[in-house]
Amino acid sequence: MIPIAKPYASEEEATHVREVILSGMMAAGDIVHEFEQKFVDFCGAKYGVATTNGTSALHAAVLASGISKGDEVIVPAFTFYASASCVSMCGATPVFADILPDTYNLDPKSVENKITDKTKAIIGVHLFGQCCNVTELSRIAKNNDITFIEDAAQAHGAEWKGVRSGCLGDMATFSFYPTKNMTTGEGGMIVTNDYSKSELARVICNHGQTEKYRHTMLGYNYRMTNINAAIGLEQLKRIEKFTEMRIRNAKILSETIQTKGITVPFVSPKAKHVYHQYVIRVEDDFPMTRDELMSYLASKGIGSAVHYPIPLHKQPYFAENNANTQLPVSEDCAKRVLSIPVHPAVTEDECLYIADTLNSI
Ligand SMILES: Cc1ncc(COP(=O)(O)O)c(C=O)c1O
Repeated sequence: MIPIAKPYASEEEATHVREVILSGMMAAGDIVHEFEQKFVDFCGAKYGVATTNGTSALHAAVLASGISKGDEVIVPAFTFYASASCVSMCGATPVFADILPDTYNLDPKSVENKITDKTKAIIGVHLFGQCCNVTELSRIAKNNDITFIEDAAQAHGAEWKGVRSGCLGDMATFSFYPTKNMTTGEGGMIVTNDYSKSELARVICNHGQTEKYRHTMLGYNYRMTNINAAIGLEQLKRIEKFTEMRIRNAKILSETIQTKGITVPFVSPKAKHVYHQYVIRVEDDFPMTRDELMSYLASKGIGSAVHYPIPLHKQPYFAENNANTQLPVSEDCAKRVLSIPVHPAVTEDECLYIADTLNSI
């Protein structure tokens, strides 16, 4: 089976982790600080706060943006649950906006329609590895004097007009879950060019502690360990190569898949897509439904996955407050999208095999 994801880990990661364990300095320390610095250098940003995962990074970033009960934050309906649950964790309300059918990212027009006098922020998700329309979303944020947070969990090294994710909004957050473009086991990072926001986020992630055993606010233990950071440092040495391989695989797939009823990913001319996922859309004139195609691909040894089958306003947790919310593009895409293998472990021949299998249906 060609798996839909295959986390990369080598002797180098294992050796570095071993060294950290044997040093006895396993909790947050110098290795974490080195990883923070090297990751923000990779992004071209100034400050980084490493966290336990991408969700805690988002939670702390939303809190550090001053969002609390009574506030509204605009979030795409078509994304992973954590892009919105982080808003609820702050006692605020996620307000779901629709997406564009080509990039699957936030539709700026829908965002504009959702702004109220309670709106305090927009969370722009760079879904599947392609930046959302940062130009338009930043303009809306600026005009309304609200914060623009990038959820870059899936977009390490992605660019908008030549600028890397992490530097495109007021704050950005990343995930280092094993299936992401690079991993630390579990982990996350808040990235920003705003020193005071980074310091506030650091306090939030460390029990609200400004000096040892002096707690000035409600905080959490969201600190990354040296063990996780050691994995991240080794992965950072390879992230550019990983990205090149994802882009190469996507190019082969897009050039070779030529069958009526399958739409391959659209890449905005302003974006550098890093293909966390390669997502095809199954149109009405394709001879199989999306779910039939998934089973067929499995029978041919090709893994696939649906990201995401339920738009967030329809998720049981959010549905009650969104009974009248209609987001037709998100609802339609949830029925049609299918992620197929694009990760660095997929070979050129396997890409051709996947494309030929689709073309022969
Ligand atoms: C868009 C998005 N945001 C946030 C997260 C949360 O990251 P984590 O799983 O590291 O908590 C994910 C993880 O899948 C994600 O895809």
